[in-house]
Amino acid sequence: MAHVFVTRDLPGTALDRLAAAGHDVDVWPDALPPSPEALREHGRTAEGLLCLLTERIDTTFLDLAPNLRAIANFAVGVDNIDLDACAARRIPVGNTPGVLTDATADLAFALLLAAARQLAPAHAAVARGAWGTWDPSGFLGADVHGATLGIVGWGRIGQAVARRASGFDMTVLHTRETALHDLLAASDFVSLHTPLTPQTHHLIDAAALAAMKETAILVNTARGPIVDQRALGDALRSGAIAGAALDVTDPEPPAPDDPLLSAPNLLVVPHIGSATRTARERMAAMAVDNLLAGLAGEPMPYPVG
Ligand code: GLV
Repeated sequence: MAHVFVTRDLPGTALDRLAAAGHDVDVWPDALPPSPEALREHGRTAEGLLCLLTERIDTTFLDLAPNLRAIANFAVGVDNIDLDACAARRIPVGNTPGVLTDATADLAFALLLAAARQLAPAHAAVARGAWGTWDPSGFLGADVHGATLGIVGWGRIGQAVARRASGFDMTVLHTRETALHDLLAASDFVSLHTPLTPQTHHLIDAAALAAMKETAILVNTARGPIVDQRALGDALRSGAIAGAALDVTDPEPPAPDDPLLSAPNLLVVPHIGSATRTARERMAAMAVDNLLAGLAGEPMPYPVG
């Protein structure tokens, strides 16, 4: 039996399998994540940790978690975890690849379509009673069909977005074949699908935004810090690009007075890329499989690295 800390309740019944396997399971009961202090406090006794992308698993935490033997991240991205520090301590880390690919690609495409066709302001106008008549010049958007989509990051999710784009007769460029600057300059839509690493931090900075077409729309369903958020706000205000649709920000959530939020032609949703019932239940099952294996001293079925 091991003491397991789970940093949030998860959809479905997967967590029940931890107790059924005889483990002593402590599930953080709140809707908001544990503070770093609360996380450290629970880490003192934890042998297994099932955490979310909202928890920073760094050396400060690991140094105070002497019994930790397995970490399962309820996410495919693992930028919240210091993997080198875990490896140095021989703590296996698992994640949840594959099962959220299509859900996230669907959301990227939903954001692209919504931003192109001004769905958010159009709905807001109807909701406030401002639908006066059929307006020949109202809510004019950009064509999606036939446009050029630049995909930054050619992994599972980027390729799934490309498959959706083919149904819209789009020309797809991607960074495995096209240099970033050329892709930015040629694309009507740019969609980000790269992991957050030191190399991709602020990959989309002021210079990158300046390289984009003035008519282009940026979509980010990857990680907020890939985009220099201040530069994005400036680019939207100056008209350097036409719009942005974001599932991720830096930080999450953004402060209410973050200048980005008052920028024009911006659509933001609260990091819901994988938020379908099926995807989230499969993610929970994979995280539990990883944790059970790690605690049993067996290889994790979905290891990182
Ligand atoms: C979500 O953002 C994930 O990395 O799974």
